[in-house]
Amino acid sequence: MFFTPGTHKDHGLPYSPFKAIVAPRPIGWISTVSKEGIPNLAPYSFFNAMSELPPMVGFSSSPGSNGEPKDSLINIQDTGEFVVNIVSKDQINAMSDTSADLSHKTSEFDFAGLTPEPSELVAAPRVKGAPCQLECKLWDILPMPEMAEGLSNKWVMGKVIGIHIQDEVIVDGKVDVMKYNPAARLGYMDYATVDHVFEIERPKTSG
Ligand SMILES: Cc1cc2nc3c(=O)[nH]c(=O)nc-3n(C[C@H](O)[C@H](O)[C@H](O)COP(=O)(O)O)c2cc1C
Repeated sequence: MFFTPGTHKDHGLPYSPFKAIVAPRPIGWISTVSKEGIPNLAPYSFFNAMSELPPMVGFSSSPGSNGEPKDSLINIQDTGEFVVNIVSKDQINAMSDTSADLSHKTSEFDFAGLTPEPSELVAAPRVKGAPCQLECKLWDILPMPEMAEGLSNKWVMGKVIGIHIQDEVIVDGKVDVMKYNPAARLGYMDYATVDHVFEIERPKTSG
């Protein structure tokens, strides 16, 4: 099968398969604080690490249902800071609850029964119980091509300035991914967790 974006229905696919193809995707569970001081939390799966030195992360925010920017983007534009919380299997339902479209004045922490914890270097709080959290400073926001007139996704890039790892997930000096079982987003309404990990050695080069 071959088709161009937007024509999937003409090919017997009722839903766009794009997200199911680029899968699994990590979930950036983004916490911010508004300039009025209200904590905000939402999941973003058009998210990834972008480089190791310096450590950089990015996520894409689509326009909200009213065509306006989503709260996470507004808060990051206002404060220049955010935290990426890693979603473990234990918190996956709470993560889903935080995707609710709430008013700018309502905190998803309260809505989902989660506890905000102070960060070390940024004002945005962390999610208590998340196995790892990355404190970030905004690097840049890039508009992507328009999806409709005047509407585009925004690519938000952050430089990681502080890293929290819960002690329980460190084994022999390494983060043990099976200990915290990060949730990943697939297509449609599907998610995945890690149930098998194996190593592959890099090829030896002769110089
Ligand atoms: C697993 C998951 C992944 C999501 N990924 C994205 C995404 O990458 N970009 C986006 O704009 N919205 C995404 N959403 C929807 C937002 O979480 C949702 O619009 C949320 O209300 C935004 O909250 P905010 O206005 O507080 O930022 C996702 C939702 C879920 C459940």
